[in-house]
Amino acid sequence: MQIILITGGAGFIGSHLTRLFVQKYPHYKIVNLDALTYAGNLNNLRDIENEPNYTFIKGDITDAALVNRLFAEHRFTGVLHCAAESHVDRSITDPLAFVRTNVIGTSTLLLAAKESWKQDYNNKIFYHISTDEVYGSLGETGFFYENTAYDPRSPYSASKASSDHFVRAFYHTYQLPVKISNCSNNYGPYHFPEKLIPLSINNIMNNKPLPIYGKGENIRDWLFVEDHARAIDTIYHNGKIGETYNIGGHNEWTNLALIKELCRQMDTKLNRAEGTSAGLITFVKDRAGHDLRYAIDATKLKEELGWVPSLQFEEGLSKTIDWYLANTNWLNDVVNGHYKDYYEEQYHKR
Ligand code: NAD
Ligand code: TYD
Repeated sequence: MQIILITGGAGFIGSHLTRLFVQKYPHYKIVNLDALTYAGNLNNLRDIENEPNYTFIKGDITDAALVNRLFAEHRFTGVLHCAAESHVDRSITDPLAFVRTNVIGTSTLLLAAKESWKQDYNNKIFYHISTDEVYGSLGETGFFYENTAYDPRSPYSASKASSDHFVRAFYHTYQLPVKISNCSNNYGPYHFPEKLIPLSINNIMNNKPLPIYGKGENIRDWLFVEDHARAIDTIYHNGKIGETYNIGGHNEWTNLALIKELCRQMDTKLNRAEGTSAGLITFVKDRAGHDLRYAIDATKLKEELGWVPSLQFEEGLSKTIDWYLANTNWLNDVVNGHYKDYYEEQYHKR
């Protein structure tokens, strides 16, 4: 019997991971602990919220008393740690929020797991979900490997790098059974529209400008979110304790090329004349310290555990657009809240 604590399960990746585990493993008990920050949304989990093997708890991972109590009450055998502050632009305006959740929150969970499991580490796993951004920024060539030296350059990536270091420190110092994965940029349904792809889909739907930072030459390596969740499932069950696995799609796009492809697909789907959406592209002031390029080498995951991405990017993007067009209620609910203030603050000064 596995009893798994998923943190941040009401967020983008966490909700896909929670759905996968609840549906694929009906004999596991899944407990989702989420503070429901601006990024957490219970509408992401409506289809599984009444499943008998699923429980939601609203709470903060920095609340040590709560976290310790949950470990005592539920006797978790595993942790899938997704909760985080996740947006680079927000980390530039409020770095301490990232230290709080990503560094202190992760350390609080590690301590609770160590205390709860110290009599018997057998069949326990603390799985930390991390990002390729900890490796820094690449030039025009090369890839991030599992042994690439950390070189974080934004407050977000610095806080994630720090959390990764704490996870490894708990492995080396206390032998806590940990696993870490570092994934490239995700996209797909339920993505909060502060990130490039869902923000642009929403703006195209509403005929609003598409803000491209700098010249749009920065490169990201995009992976469909369900492929990320599948990779985590594979590593959780078959990966080695104490190891790190890179996850990526070998799918690099400049921001400008990606937005042009998005515009092309949306013109077709919305029956707009070719070039209509691309006419909304607007170059705005660059992000401070903007990393040029991320690219993951995921050979280890492929060769050791047999994971490969299932979707080509054009197909994944098409599925994603279709989801947003079919789920305008979800989107309207999100953008009618504090999102408007955020958007005003981020984009009107650019
Ligand atoms: P998200 O911002 O969509 O969701 C984060 C979730 O964590 C939200 O539900 C939020 O309510 C919750 N949360 C935040 N602070 C909390 C706290 N103090 N206590 C409890 N819950 C809290 O993030 P995401 O994009 O789903 O990312 C999930 C994880 O995956 C993060 O660790 C992120 O670093 C990592 N990651 C993301 C990407 C990506 O492209 N989005 C890529 C690689 C890795
Ligand atoms: P984002 O989705 O924020 O992810 P990350 O910064 O974690 O890679 O941004 C993806 C890329 O798109 C990044 O190079 C910044 C750029 N970008 C824009 O050009 N305009 C925007 O409005 C946003 C949100 C991002």
